[in-house]
Amino acid sequence: LPYLLAALGAGYLLGSIPFGFLITRLAGLGDVRKIGSGNIGATNVLRTGRKGLAALTLLLDALKGTAAVLLAALYGSDYGLVAGFGAFIGHLFPVWLGFKGGKGVATYLGILIAAAWQGALVFAAVWLTVAYATRYSSLAALVAAVCVPLALYLLGLTGPAQLFTVLSLLVFLRHRANIVRLIQGRESRIGAKG
Ligand code: G3P
Repeated sequence: LPYLLAALGAGYLLGSIPFGFLITRLAGLGDVRKIGSGNIGATNVLRTGRKGLAALTLLLDALKGTAAVLLAALYGSDYGLVAGFGAFIGHLFPVWLGFKGGKGVATYLGILIAAAWQGALVFAAVWLTVAYATRYSSLAALVAAVCVPLALYLLGLTGPAQLFTVLSLLVFLRHRANIVRLIQGRESRIGAKG
């Protein structure tokens, strides 16, 4: 049990690094939480018009999830999944930002790359297809979040499937405002500002 808690805590600390917030601030763009959707993720960083910074946010928010899983998995694969869960919770509820963090999509993908790479391929294919077809980042993430746990169960990857069922539920909860905007036709599309 102490090792599980250590994996959870280490994952949380890694996941709680708010890269989108830090990167935009270091670039002199001010507080990213005051623009667009108010989120600290790559989609909202893109609304500053700085594609490179958005790509860097996506990369680092994903990598912290990958790193948490891989480091903890050195002690056993169960520890990897626990640390991945910790990293996801850290991203959503970072102590550094008053527990108000991001929506978890990039970190979800990063954890998935390390925990079940087949699921990451499913995620990428679904996300890219829906994003290309509709230009809605949020909708692409939501559809991918439905497909990934289903695919993991079908592949017989029960441990990751259980973890990603929970993470997908959290992704949906975090996208409540996006879901309302999608239904009302008011969601902003990739490439549009604000
Ligand atoms: O990855 C987050 C995305 O699904 C939605 O971001 O800023 O449009 O709320 P945002």
